[in-house]
Amino acid sequence: MTEEKAKLDGPDLAQGVALSTLAEGAMLLGHTQGEAVILVRRGDALFAIGAVCTHYSGPLAEGLLVEDTVRCPWHHACFSLRTGEALRAPALNAVSCWRVEQRDGKAFVRENLEGARRPPPAASGMPGSVVIVGGGAAGNAAAEMLRQEGYAGRLTVLSADESVPYDRPNLSKNYLAGSAPEEWIPLRSPEFYQEHDIDLKLNARVAAIDTANRQVRLADGGSYAYDALLLATGAEPVRLALPGGDLPHVRYLRTLADSRALVAKASGSKQAVVIGASFIGLEVAASLRARNIDVHVVGLETCPMEKILGAEVGNFIRKLHEAHGVTFHLGTTATSIDKRSVTLRSGESIPADLVVIGVGVRPVVALAEQAGLAIDRGVTVNEYLETSAPGIFAAGDIARWPDRLTGERIRVEHWVVAERQGQTAARNILGRRERFDAVPFFWTEQYDFGFAYVGHAERFDKAEIDGRLDARDCTITFRRSGQKLAVAVIHRDLEGLRAEVEFERTIAAREAQSARAGAPS
Ligand SMILES: Cc1cc2nc3c(=O)[nH]c(=O)nc-3n(C[C@H](O)[C@H](O)[C@H](O)COP(=O)(O)OP(=O)(O)OC[C@H]3O[C@@H](n4cnc5c(N)ncnc54)[C@H](O)[C@@H]3O)c2cc1C
Ligand code: FES
Repeated sequence: MTEEKAKLDGPDLAQGVALSTLAEGAMLLGHTQGEAVILVRRGDALFAIGAVCTHYSGPLAEGLLVEDTVRCPWHHACFSLRTGEALRAPALNAVSCWRVEQRDGKAFVRENLEGARRPPPAASGMPGSVVIVGGGAAGNAAAEMLRQEGYAGRLTVLSADESVPYDRPNLSKNYLAGSAPEEWIPLRSPEFYQEHDIDLKLNARVAAIDTANRQVRLADGGSYAYDALLLATGAEPVRLALPGGDLPHVRYLRTLADSRALVAKASGSKQAVVIGASFIGLEVAASLRARNIDVHVVGLETCPMEKILGAEVGNFIRKLHEAHGVTFHLGTTATSIDKRSVTLRSGESIPADLVVIGVGVRPVVALAEQAGLAIDRGVTVNEYLETSAPGIFAAGDIARWPDRLTGERIRVEHWVVAERQGQTAARNILGRRERFDAVPFFWTEQYDFGFAYVGHAERFDKAEIDGRLDARDCTITFRRSGQKLAVAVIHRDLEGLRAEVEFERTIAAREAQSARAGAPS
């Protein structure tokens, strides 16, 4: 999270802008009352909202207008032009919203409408109590959405974590690199939960669900009754069983406590071995390099991230890390660890006073299994994120849902997907019957390099690169049997947003077609 505000570029919108200069469907960046604002014309209507995304301060003026919303170019949050509300994660807060007056052929941005934004009426006929198991991306977003939608019943979040919900993606990036202070990491203050009457219980591990009596039982013996239950227990790192794997300098990274411990250990370390050459491993490698630690990465694959991004991008990422001083040991694995080194299958020994293992995660489904819910490499949910048990929903890393683009059931481990699923599950708990149809999105950052990825291509037979990878200006399209499944963009944020909209329209068109085909003649 950066504290940088958009510079107050462009005209003072309180002084008026000639309507003739406002192109239909374009955004004009200006400012009013010391705040950066975008002014948008859609037909006869004019809208003015804050120009700085409330997630990580992305520049909304460089985003995409889609009907009466604007999408952020960085991580695709979506804001209403009419109210400024954050309609889609990862932004959780609204931007400001301003009244626009048209007079004498000019548009004038007038007063801030924040006071005029009304909460929706309290929902009636809703579950008397909602329990959310998990205080991560999905659990937190669901709790917030329930209150945002006017739910006034009892709302409890039970989290095994010791910390209030936090920005997990940052744990391997700026926080670990030392460029983000810890105060940026919590998503909300503890007071936020009190103010919104969300009973957030930390260090509260749920041990069992009694579906017949609609109760959850905590490991410490306490219990909570629910009318509706959301399971959002996330994922946990896969542990490597190898000699020395439990030595104190061998670390995994999932929680804030893990990241804190890693930061503390890193401050006295000189040589690190990272086992695992996928996202977490490579982000950790980059962050440790920022701390001037000598880093070796060990991976089973011969080309990092080839399975997800293709060989060309994989090789580019490898070279990027090598240029920053990382040494790779690929196509191999660690066979043992001791206090001073890691031994590889070949017998080679790499000195290490810090070892970080990032070899993937597995969904935390023990509770769902115990409750007898349908499981298929994750918790099986339908398009409304309902599990096989009435009144129980699942969201986030644990949920395997029917992907609207391919028709296949997928489970992904992405922050934005988890938050959006939490939001959809919350609305469905309130009886909205809303399908989860967000197109998957994730991003990564390593050094000064990053990309955004839209869609989901678990398997692909083609990765076409448009533009130049070495110039960090390209779009990569992933296809299987000719079908476009996903798009990754490097420094082409707008193309990433356009790809998202294109996927959404493909889904909508396909559904309209099947509705017509199924409609009685
Ligand atoms: C270091 C790191 C960096 C990442 N970077 C990115 C990124 O750049 N982009 C991206 O898209 N994704 C990223 N991810 C993945 C992303 O963070 C996850 O997809 C997301 O957090 C999943 O959300 P969730 O709510 O399903 O689970 P989580 O956020 O893991 O939350 C699960 C919660 O459930 C709780 N819990 C588990 N079991 C119980 C129980 N029995 N009782 C009570 N509570 C329980 C846990 O304590 C936790 O609070 C990253 C993940 C990590 C670890
Ligand atoms: S900065 Fe806007 S979505 Fe992240």
